[in-house]
Amino acid sequence: MVEIPTSTKQHDESRQGEALLLEQDPKKSDGRKLYIESYGCQMNFSDSEIVASILVDKGFETTRDYREADVVFINTCSIRENAEQRVRNRLKEFESAKAKNPGMVVGVLGCMAERLKSKFLEEEKLVDVVVGPDAYRDLPNLIEQVDEGARAVNVLLSREETYADISPVRLNSNGVTAFISIMRGCDNMCSFCVVPFTRGRERSRDPQSIVKEAQDLFMAGYREVTLLGQNVDSYKYAAPATDGGEPEPAINFARLLEMVAQVNPLLRVRFSTSHPKDITDEVLHTIARYENICKYIHLPVQSGNSRVLELMNRTYDREWYMERVDAIRRIIPECGISTDVITGFCSETEEEHRDTLAMMDYVKYDYAYMFAYSERPGTLAAKRYADDIPEEVKKRRLTEVVDKQREHSLGRLQTYVGKVHKVLIEGLSKRSDQDYCGRNDQNSMVVFPADTRYKVGDYVNVYTDRCTSATLIGRIVD
Ligand code: SAH
Ligand code: SF4
Ligand code: F3S
Repeated sequence: MVEIPTSTKQHDESRQGEALLLEQDPKKSDGRKLYIESYGCQMNFSDSEIVASILVDKGFETTRDYREADVVFINTCSIRENAEQRVRNRLKEFESAKAKNPGMVVGVLGCMAERLKSKFLEEEKLVDVVVGPDAYRDLPNLIEQVDEGARAVNVLLSREETYADISPVRLNSNGVTAFISIMRGCDNMCSFCVVPFTRGRERSRDPQSIVKEAQDLFMAGYREVTLLGQNVDSYKYAAPATDGGEPEPAINFARLLEMVAQVNPLLRVRFSTSHPKDITDEVLHTIARYENICKYIHLPVQSGNSRVLELMNRTYDREWYMERVDAIRRIIPECGISTDVITGFCSETEEEHRDTLAMMDYVKYDYAYMFAYSERPGTLAAKRYADDIPEEVKKRRLTEVVDKQREHSLGRLQTYVGKVHKVLIEGLSKRSDQDYCGRNDQNSMVVFPADTRYKVGDYVNVYTDRCTSATLIGRIVD
């Protein structure tokens, strides 16, 4: 069995390489079998649900076993060198299956497809089709071309595509939590980052289609949605004016959050990722105003030093970031905050690295995703700066950051012990089928004895009396 995805984080390494399965009645489809495996961020996992929807519409059914598939897709990530290496290793494992079944179509989708384009076909003989993130509507046609003996590539990026009208099939779903893509692409040019090249220009999806998707999910029993974008705070949608009338005012992220929160008070709303330069007090006040908008913000800092932040082209400095954290603490005192950190960026000194550690002490993050800098071809940093921090120094700095975060994660969890938390039951605990698990507002995992009066998808009040390094433990109180 494949694990049920429970993380709401934008980028969760633990989920890399999950195979996705659509729960459906096999009798209803008579077509070929599709297998999709996804790597990278939640946007990619969400895209796989769009891909599955497009192909299920054409009569495909899904399988968990690539060896019995007619079409094998791998939805890839380019964010760091090792993410790409993992995909290449995985492709090798598909070779023997393809040798046994030469009619099998192997496709590379997502960011690595976009980055390498037709070069992929030269480098990996096994691959038949290469498709970038904005070209998934073309998949049925591309598969047909492969069936006719060609190898096919479509890596066109779009300024409009948001797949707004496609109703994603929920893959591997726990039936309670789901992701909704609200925008695509990224217009920031962080110097280390490959995403603007692999995902193209930023565009926001029609808010009506987002609200409709949230409503449909609620009707289907879902109780939590996570709104996804690389920089949700720059969400902006202006409806085209009709019949020469006055155009409607543009919808910003604060307004969108409110619209989704109003779908139903029992529908929890999360979002990711926030950009420190763009997160406004208006957004913070909206979070504070709605009980069902979770008090949790993922606010990647990357570095705690202003000179490094400038080289990274993050467009904020240390003081600006700290002021935004102060604003969060002031407006939403109980808010959980998580972050992303990069160690050993070009020319980072020991003292600058210590500024990152000091920033962590200042904020006391609930959670962090931490990475050693990995130079990506074509990025501004690759063109302008030498990747001059030795690998062992990057790794040592990373260890220091990880150790510090471990202390803070535990410290934050300890502040939640001895309190009652509203928890949405997501399923049985991984460790014991006698226990339920779910998350509190601050996104911490809470485990507690199952109680037959409550089922998956219900909210319960849980009194937590202790914690491990990553989990709160408690019992339901009425
Ligand atoms: N849009 C999000 C980040 C998406 S990528 C944001 O702006 O925060 C997720 C994380 O991967 C980044 O926050 C960064 O910490 C990390 N990352 C991106 N490029 C990287 C690189 N070249 N080397 C190491 N880590 C990187
Ligand atoms: Fe990459 Fe920066 Fe865009 Fe995030 S905001 S996806 S780090 S360029
Ligand atoms: Fe996501 Fe990786 Fe692409 S983090 S946007 S899948 S490069």
